[in-house]
Amino acid sequence: MTAAVLAPAYPEHLRAEVDRYLETLQFSSEDPTRGLEEAMRYSLLAGGKRIRPVLTLATAVAIGRAPQTVLPLAAAIELIHTYSLIHDDLPAMDDDDLRRGRPTCHRVFGEDVAILAGDGLYAEAFALLLSEQEAEPARLVAAARELSRATGVQGMVGGQYIDVAETALEGAAGLRRLHELKTGRLIAASITCVLELEGADKPDTISAFGTFAGELGVLFQIVDDILDVTGSEEALGKPQGSDERLGKRTYVSEFGLDEARRLALESHARARAALARAAPAGAAELEQITDFIATRSF
Ligand code: IPE
Ligand code: IPE
Ligand code: MG
Ligand code: MG
Ligand code: MG
Repeated sequence: MTAAVLAPAYPEHLRAEVDRYLETLQFSSEDPTRGLEEAMRYSLLAGGKRIRPVLTLATAVAIGRAPQTVLPLAAAIELIHTYSLIHDDLPAMDDDDLRRGRPTCHRVFGEDVAILAGDGLYAEAFALLLSEQEAEPARLVAAARELSRATGVQGMVGGQYIDVAETALEGAAGLRRLHELKTGRLIAASITCVLELEGADKPDTISAFGTFAGELGVLFQIVDDILDVTGSEEALGKPQGSDERLGKRTYVSEFGLDEARRLALESHARARAALARAAPAGAAELEQITDFIATRSF
């Protein structure tokens, strides 16, 4: 997957900033851990849409900050996302062989190294955020707290547990909660952490951004569920049909394809309405990403 196949409306200039910054990251120069570093960089630099870090940069733009000023935060979020993908693909989880158009980390480096590569990316994310991100100390702590919560039991890992243990509550609310946690919270944090760093203090703006961020996260996973059925392995860069093979509870299994598509449209409309409240003067890049998430084919 290269930049060229992204829809034209995607903020490519922000994605390019993210990719350039990620390329520069090095975690160790010690010989004995070279293989670990290689596995981490293999998955991190395999491409990917970079939606979360691009959201971080786009949020900075929307609140009048230079996007480059939040690159360490943005990169930290992408490191965490990449860790979640490596672990999600493991045989004990979704048991998938293809990711970002390449064999999955454990297929290339072995399960033991893939587990450690994920662990390493998670820790290095916070090391990066806490050492490279410029901000007033109290604001940096607030952003780090938000990011750690978004990835903990009340966030991504809790959601992944509900997914694998099949403990989601019955009905639409239970399924939405699963999606809010496993995918929504990290996507939302890509936006809200910027407000924490900035020390945003207008309650109406914070609340509207929060609603936008949460809705966008759920929308993202509804579309991921749809693409698992309708997408192609070539375009997705990951196996199609993984959810059905594993009997996963998704928006498609719960509601059928047509209704899942309708719910995605509704979610997109709610996200755009909240964004209009959050940024009344407009926020071109955030609007583009919101539309891209709803209409994407990969
Ligand atoms: C896939 O995320 C995992 C989910 C949370 C559904 P992305 O679709 O953002 O994957 P990349 O980063 O583009 O590879
Ligand atoms: C995974 O959801 C969400 C994560 C936290 C990684 P999926 O299992 O649906 O993600 P894909 O489809 O494998 O990318
Ligand atoms: Mg999964
Ligand atoms: Mg998966
Ligand atoms: Mg999926």
